[in-house]
Amino acid sequence: MLDTSDRHNDRVEVIITDSAEATGTIAAEAIERLYAAKPAAVLGVATGSSPLAIYADLGRRVDAGTLSLAQASAFMLDEYVGLAADHAERYRTVIERELVARVDIDSGRVHGPDGAASDLRGACAAYEEAIRAAGGVDLQILGVGTDGHIAFNEPGSSLASRTRIKTLTSQTRRDNARFFGGDVEAVPRHCLTQGIGTIMEARHIVLVATGRHKAEAVHHLVEGSISAMWPATILQMHPHATVVVDQSAASRLQLAGYYTETYEAKPDWQAF
Ligand code: GLP
Repeated sequence: MLDTSDRHNDRVEVIITDSAEATGTIAAEAIERLYAAKPAAVLGVATGSSPLAIYADLGRRVDAGTLSLAQASAFMLDEYVGLAADHAERYRTVIERELVARVDIDSGRVHGPDGAASDLRGACAAYEEAIRAAGGVDLQILGVGTDGHIAFNEPGSSLASRTRIKTLTSQTRRDNARFFGGDVEAVPRHCLTQGIGTIMEARHIVLVATGRHKAEAVHHLVEGSISAMWPATILQMHPHATVVVDQSAASRLQLAGYYTETYEAKPDWQAF
C-alpha cells in the first residue's frame, strides 16, 4: 500500500513489481486512496507509454465504483508546440483518449500548457498561475525518459526551472518517433513543459518506469549524484517520492534487494 499523506520519506521509496501492469495497479491504488480522503484532489497527469497501465486501472476502479474523479481537476506536465488541435499525438488529445475517456473526470477541469498559443511565454506564465490557483498538485504521476528527463526537462535543465519553452533533444525525438509513424522529422522540435521546480512542488510524486531501456535512468534517479545531467535525480530532494518499477527497469539498482526487503517489511502504521 502506498502512502498518500504528507509523511516525509527518509529516501525515495522504491517498489519493484513483477510486471508493467503491477506498476499501474500500485500507482492506481495510491490515487484511489487519495480520492477517498480528498475527493477534489488535484492530479498531475503524464503522457508517454509508462502511465497507460495506471489509466487503464483507474478506468476499472471507476467502473467498479471504488473511485470517483468527478470532483477532481488535473494538470498535464507538458505539450508539444505547433501540433494541430486534432492531432492524435498532441498530448491534450492523448490524455483525452487514454484517461478522460475512461474515467468520470470533467474534461473542462483537465488543464495543459497551450502549445498552440501565439504568446507561448504568456501561456507558460498563465499555466503556473493556474496550478497555483488550484492549490497545487496533490499527486503527480511521472515517467522518465531514457536520458533521465522528467516531463520535457531535458538533461542540463535548471533544477529550479519553471514552466517554459524547451527544445527537444535528438534522443527524445528518436524515442518519441514511434508515436509519429517512426518519422523523427514529424516529432516537433519544441515543447512547453512544467519546470523541475514546478514538478517538485507536487505533494506526492509517483514515478513509474518499465523495461530494461529505463534501467540506467532509474539507477541514476535513485542512486546517482544529483545533477542537471540526469534531471530525475532531483527527486532525491523530494519529501515524498515513490518510484514504482518492474524487474527490468530495476535491473541496475545496486540496493534492489534492500528496497524490496524494506517494502515487504513496511509496517502498517507507516502508511498513515
Ligand atoms: C516523453 C514525455 C515524458 C515521459 C517520457 C517517457 O518525453 N514528455 O513525460 O516520461 O516521454 O515516455 P515513455 O513512458 O513512453 O517511455
